[in-house]
Amino acid sequence: MNEQAVELNKQIESTNPAILKLLSERGKNSFFPKEGILAQTADAKDKSINATIGIAIDDNGIPMHLESTKQHISLEPKEIYPYAPSQGLPQLRKKWNDSIKEKNPSLAATTSLPIVTSGLTNALSIAGYLFMDNNSIITTDLFWGNYKLTFTEAYNATIETFPLFKESSFNLEALKEKIAAQENPILLLNFPNNPSGYMPTKEECEEIAKIIKEEANNKNILVILDDAYIDLIYEQPQESLFAHLADIHENVLTIKIDGPTKGDYAWGLRVGFLTFNAKGATKETYGALEQKAAGIIRGNISNASNLSQNLLLKAYESETYAQEIKQNFIILNDRYQEVKRVFLQHPEFVEQFTPLPFNAGYFMCIELKNHEAEPIRQILLKKYDMGIIALKDKIRIAFSAIPKNKIEQAFINIYEACRE
Ligand SMILES: Cc1ncc(COP(=O)(O)O)c(C=O)c1O
Repeated sequence: MNEQAVELNKQIESTNPAILKLLSERGKNSFFPKEGILAQTADAKDKSINATIGIAIDDNGIPMHLESTKQHISLEPKEIYPYAPSQGLPQLRKKWNDSIKEKNPSLAATTSLPIVTSGLTNALSIAGYLFMDNNSIITTDLFWGNYKLTFTEAYNATIETFPLFKESSFNLEALKEKIAAQENPILLLNFPNNPSGYMPTKEECEEIAKIIKEEANNKNILVILDDAYIDLIYEQPQESLFAHLADIHENVLTIKIDGPTKGDYAWGLRVGFLTFNAKGATKETYGALEQKAAGIIRGNISNASNLSQNLLLKAYESETYAQEIKQNFIILNDRYQEVKRVFLQHPEFVEQFTPLPFNAGYFMCIELKNHEAEPIRQILLKKYDMGIIALKDKIRIAFSAIPKNKIEQAFINIYEACRE
């Protein structure tokens, strides 16, 4: 094993032996190279002749670029074209860290600094790289289908599900049973959930944390939180489970995976973040985990888009950011309220389908009474000029993408298609 990897593992083990046990073989082996090109480039940063850096610089010290790209972007060339650090831009990492604290006021624990990834998918994949060797992952029966590619195909993980709902509440017993049945469980929790649009209540979040804490008395638990939709909660305001799980037990490592993708409406910018917390972890422990994550980024994508990171920094520094966020939230919240109104207005819908609990995010699901979803999807496409996502006996509807004045018609269409 590389000496630096050995050193990082020691740093982790000295404060949190549980984390070392949770790491996969790949995770144990990973490190961020201190020597080599990056280190030599860092040494030469302020030198008048710098022949280290792998980019082209013009005679005036400006990164060379093509005007045909630059003319469309008002940022400075240095904010667009050079590479960003593998860990991400320091100012952006700090801003995101501040925003996690702001959005989770009860989060008093120390955490790592967020590492910048290329969207949440990349962050999820890094979690897989660090912690999965043919493991099974516990998640809800309603989950984002891409987890199969990210974890099953890439890291040989097996996805084991438990029913998300018991009647109209989060199924705490099923979660407990699943964790209890595994030796060193990996939990993957995505709230607000895709596809259901469900965010557990504060009380449910507290209960989830209690279960994890109890189970951690005799096992090591990795909790991966996919917080993609955390900024879009329409009912009771909620903190992330990250706040509930922070410093909960020496045997629990929590990874918060989040980003601007959904909440800042920046899907194609491809920026995400990965932040660690474990009870007892020190600056050195977090530093070691950050270096391992950065090493994986360096070896896979090298770094996330500098342009995207700088664009987001501008947004977070902008005086109008809060107002812009609010405007979009109002539109999505109105659509959410409209979906609820439509169901109250149309009691006949229950002959054909019922909504699963939803209170957040972009989506809601309906459960069909008498049909598989795929034939209904086909009818909707062919006769009603409408597309939905068919999930066996459920349909996922992205109300985030339907103008408010078309929402009622959308559900009437589904009802009519079911009747056909
Ligand atoms: C639950 C969930 N996690 C992660 C992602 C991926 O986010 P990103 O586009 O930043 O990779 C999505 C996108 O659809 C999602 O629904």
